[in-house]
Order: sequence, then C-alpha cells, then structure tokens
Amino acid sequence: MPDSRNAPDGALWSSPLAGACLDRLFLQARTTRAWQERPVAPALLHELYRLMGMGPTSANCQPARIVFVQSAAGKAELLPLLDAGNREQTRLAPVTAVLACDLHFHERLDFLYPHQPQARGWFTGSPASTRDAALRNASLQHGYFIIAARALGLDCGPMGGFDADAVTRRYFPGGRAEVSFLCNLGYAAAAPLRGRLPRLPFDEACAMA
Ligand SMILES: Cc1cc2nc3c(=O)[nH]c(=O)nc-3n(C[C@H](O)[C@H](O)[C@H](O)COP(=O)(O)O)c2cc1C
Repeated sequence: MPDSRNAPDGALWSSPLAGACLDRLFLQARTTRAWQERPVAPALLHELYRLMGMGPTSANCQPARIVFVQSAAGKAELLPLLDAGNREQTRLAPVTAVLACDLHFHERLDFLYPHQPQARGWFTGSPASTRDAALRNASLQHGYFIIAARALGLDCGPMGGFDADAVTRRYFPGGRAEVSFLCNLGYAAAAPLRGRLPRLPFDEACAMA
C-alpha cells in the first residue's frame, strides 16, 4: 500500500474529519435496538473485519475473534442464551456478532510480527500476563469494530446481557477463547430511541499532567 502521508510536515492528515463524519461515528450514532428487515451483505462483514483489523494492537497481535450469527437456525440457538430483555432485539437484527478474545493469540505472532521472533516471549511470561494482553487488545479491537461498522453505514447494538460461559462454549469450544460481548448489526428502524444518557465531563474523567 502506498504511503498515504499528504501533509507537507509529514503528518498523516492535515485536518480533522468533516462534521458529518464525526456525527456518523460518534455524535449522532446511537445504540440500536430496533431493526429494519434489510439484510447485511456478507461482503460488508468482510470489509468491516478488514477495517477493524487496521486498528493498532500490541505487537500487531490481533486477538479478536468473531462469529457472525445470521441464519435463522443460528439465531434460534443463540436466543435462549441471552437475557430476556436482549432476545427480541437480537431476533430482529440481521446479524449478531459474537465478539471474543483468543487467549492463544501469541501462536500467530510469527505471521503477524515476523521481524521480531522474540515477540512471542513478550506475551508468555505468565498465564496472567498473556490473558491481560489478550483482553486488552481484543477490547481495543472490539471498539474499533463498532466504529468501523458505523463508518460503513451499519448501526450497532452491543450487549453484555447473556450467559457468557454458555455462549463461549457454543461458539468457541475448547477453551482457547472467551466471549466478551455480542453486537447486533444492521440498519436501524424508525423507532423511538431512549434519551441520550449523560457523558462524564472532561474534568471528572481526565487530568492534565
Ligand atoms: C459492552 C456493552 C454491553 C451492553 N449491554 C447491553 C445489553 O445487554 N442490553 C442492552 O439493551 N444494551 C446494552 N448496551 C448498550 C448501552 O447501554 C449503550 O450503548 C449506552 O447506554 C450508550 O447508549 P448510546 O450509544 O445510545 O448513547 C451495552 C453496551 C456495551 C458497549
């Protein structure tokens, strides 16, 4: 891929995104619980994965793993594992992404970080440090996933209300991965949204040092 630097001082970009882009990604984007019947093309899920994968992870380790549940049979299996309040929104969503984290991600570092053969060792000092790195980096990728989906015109409905052990057993058997959360994907239906909830002010959540 060509180097995309386009500012004379060497910065990658010289200006912020247009307001409409910020609206789409953040300011107007909302958690969606009501869905149009409009399907999501498989090619769009491939593009979503490609964009998500471009976000940074430690030593490019990319521990996120995803199962996209979209068939009627797949939905029928998944729904009983969800909290009651999440079932209808998930039944109606064209796709439900099961977002997980590969606890053995370091096995792929020969491919993902080939110029540093010792990179594997950075993550395998102890089971706890491997797990920390897996969770940290997969969580980052899961955040990129939501923003990438929005960038592609999809709406998202993330959900933590489900039987995590049962969902992990069903979609990632063998114990090498853990499910983090689910995310419905599709196109929002015209339905009343809950009021936007407050966000913490800068001075409460941030400090300057
Ligand atoms: C990890 C995660 C878990 C969530 N779990 C649920 C859930 O189980 N059910 C649900 O209806 N909403 C769930 N939400 C939605 C949040 O409540 C919602 O994103 C938040 O209140 C912000 O809403 P907004 O995006 O419309 O501003 C979850 C969101 C995230 C990111």
